Amino acid sequence: MHTIIKNACLNMAKDGFEGFYDSLADQLVPNLPTTYRSFIHRTDGATLPLTSVNDALFFSLAYDKGHYLTFSRVLKDRLIFSEEDTVINLIDYGCGQGTATLATLDFIAKSCNPKSTKLNIHLIEQSSIALEIAVYKITARSKQLGFKISLNTQNCFFSEVTLPEFSNNYDTIHLMSYVLDIKSVQEEILTITDQIKDFPGKNFIVATDINKTEGKRGFNLLSIQLTAKKTPIKEYYLPHHRYNICQKSFGTHIADAIGFLLEVDNSISLDLAA
Ligand SMILES: C[S@@+](CC[C@H](N)C(=O)[O-])C[C@H]1O[C@@H](n2cnc3c(N)ncnc32)[C@H](O)[C@@H]1O
Repeated sequence: MHTIIKNACLNMAKDGFEGFYDSLADQLVPNLPTTYRSFIHRTDGATLPLTSVNDALFFSLAYDKGHYLTFSRVLKDRLIFSEEDTVINLIDYGCGQGTATLATLDFIAKSCNPKSTKLNIHLIEQSSIALEIAVYKITARSKQLGFKISLNTQNCFFSEVTLPEFSNNYDTIHLMSYVLDIKSVQEEILTITDQIKDFPGKNFIVATDINKTEGKRGFNLLSIQLTAKKTPIKEYYLPHHRYNICQKSFGTHIADAIGFLLEVDNSISLDLAA
């Protein structure tokens, strides 16, 4: 793994996600690997799958803190875990470098004892470079927190996804962090929603995104496909300190975001059949 990511993960053991970000910024800012203009051009505004480690590092510096914060806040608002949750299934769609899963691990660790909680984690991502970094970070964080995990990946487009068989009846949390605004994702999402509708057990779909028309369109599409109606979307304005890649300076930035939670409960039909 790239030395910058390794060092940042070591710092995460001490100071959590803040520690990860601070170390990343300390190492990267003195020698930025690319410019804002060329990054935005190459990645179509940070939506295309990343094709180099330098772009992955730059993406992290620019967006990870806001994405982590937003996902953590929506989880806190909408989901409750307890000591009784001994096995939890997680699927992260378009996981990028794993930020939403990291926020979820940290959140679960606040309510459950990691030592007696098993997490089945499945990561879906088109960029193999981002996926490799995600696996490294999530494995490191799970160890640091003391979770037992099983981790699997699918390196593919959403249109090619086959959801995993966890072979259990435990709850599954489906994570969609800053993916639903993307046009190709909206075009391919039916492949995923068709499978979630039949996915065993209780399903909780947690989504976050940019507070713009495209984000809200993606949320409405997902909600209508899964529940046949629109679900209220909550707006979030979350100030945080981070590096601004455009202005090349540290400062306070507002994550202007949206979030919601959908539930698809397939445990009822299973109970009736039994
Ligand atoms: C803005 S990033 C968000 C990454 C991560 N979820 C986060 O919150 O930091 C969008 C991600 O979606 C992935 N992606 C974009 N289009 C995709 C598609 N059609 N199928 C699968 N993944 C896609 C990209 O590779 C990228 O990692």
